[in-house]
Amino acid sequence: MSIKIFKTKEELSDKLSDYIIDHHLDSSIALSGGSTPLLLFKSLSNKLSSSIDLNTKFYWVDERCVEPNSDDSNYKMAKENLFINKIFKSENIYRIKGENDPFEEVINYNNILRKTLTVKNNIATFDLIILGLGDDGHTASLFPHEFLSFRDKEDCLVASHPLSGQKRISLSEKIINNAKEVIFHITGSGKKYIIDDIINKKGNYKSYPGSFIDPKSTNLSWYLDFDASEMLTK
Ligand code: 6PG
Repeated sequence: MSIKIFKTKEELSDKLSDYIIDHHLDSSIALSGGSTPLLLFKSLSNKLSSSIDLNTKFYWVDERCVEPNSDDSNYKMAKENLFINKIFKSENIYRIKGENDPFEEVINYNNILRKTLTVKNNIATFDLIILGLGDDGHTASLFPHEFLSFRDKEDCLVASHPLSGQKRISLSEKIINNAKEVIFHITGSGKKYIIDDIINKKGNYKSYPGSFIDPKSTNLSWYLDFDASEMLTK
């Protein structure tokens, strides 16, 4: 495991986009949603603005069960900030269709993963998965209130937000831990305690889904800005 700390979220996004451009333009990459990835998406599309039809294959770590044009859609944020012009081949963008019935879509998406990715240990294998972390320790849409019931699932699953009940489609812990490389991309002081608990196995870390991210490849990196890393550097 490696921990990389950057002064600001802008510097973090700049360096993480450089890393992705240098090492992963021919990779299969699963993107997270939420607010953190926005600066990374903008940095990538700015730096690649003169590129056309790159072969990178994009997937989602999770998606809210909403229309693709909803402001809640993880796909919408990527479409508006990363998939600009024709930088990437559109046929290589594998959207989770949040507008479909969740239990049908989870079958559809599992089939897409198995058809378009290499399957190792009977599980789809990504080259890179970029994760966020909630201040309750969730990652992807693996939330503490239902995480234990998902632990034996090998494929994508239907999850629900603990407060709103909103249905989500999410990669499973097993798919995430089967990836060749996993990066936690986290900014802001709101996550500093949970990050410290998870990395240093303190407090209630065993109740946080983020604590179970432990790729078989051992290739796990934490990309943090200073605010998010504050407890680690005390
Ligand atoms: C989602 C994400 C989720 C996110 C965390 C952090 O669909 O919301 O996949 O796991 O990464 O909730 O969200 P922020 O980046 O907004 O803090």
